[in-house]
Amino acid sequence: MKFFADTADIDAIRDLSEAGLLDGVTTNPSLIMKSGRDIWEVTKEICDIVDGPVSAETVSLDVDGMVAEGRKLAKIADNIAVKVPLTLNGLKACKLLRGEGHMVNVTLCFSANQALLAAKAGATFISPFIGRLDDINMDGMELIQDIRTIYDNYGFETQILAASVRSVNHITEAARIGADVVTAPPAVLQKMADHPLTDKGLDAFLADWKKTGQSIL
Ligand code: E4P
Repeated sequence: MKFFADTADIDAIRDLSEAGLLDGVTTNPSLIMKSGRDIWEVTKEICDIVDGPVSAETVSLDVDGMVAEGRKLAKIADNIAVKVPLTLNGLKACKLLRGEGHMVNVTLCFSANQALLAAKAGATFISPFIGRLDDINMDGMELIQDIRTIYDNYGFETQILAASVRSVNHITEAARIGADVVTAPPAVLQKMADHPLTDKGLDAFLADWKKTGQSIL
């Protein structure tokens, strides 16, 4: 499973990247706003840190606008994945941008049928939003499972990018189902390393080590 960081926070991206934990990054207009940075500057900086796909989102609603924005975003670096929304226009833009050789991440997916259409349009990634479905009392993980089944039934190569991840349990479940990628806020990715028994065990080992009076270095 690949890990993408869902953020435009350069320090967090650098930290995860140095730990060898990062396969890519996803951004969206809200995350760019939160960073307080210029989209071109911050996206270029992210692409310089991370070798894998970096999603940058279009904001037009018409096909021509999305394609023009996608082409411009793709010029930032070779590892840009153009993000388009899951609308009919977004699917048309996806097909055109894929035809030009760009990676495309189709975002804001909330149903298996939408995911099926994105695969037909040749999307590189489909982004089903788990947390936002859970927020309205629906089952985000059931959607990941449905998309996995459908893509496997027909051999679609579109990668399932589990998005809108809110907890470490979301990551475990998405991995169990076989999502290709998970994108999560840096804090959630970091929490994957935590376990109270690890902390307790480490405390006990260090206390015993102190009693030996020895040193390693
Ligand atoms: C990823 O590409 C999405 O933009 C992101 O995961 C949305 O997450 P949110 O629902 O927490 O805003």
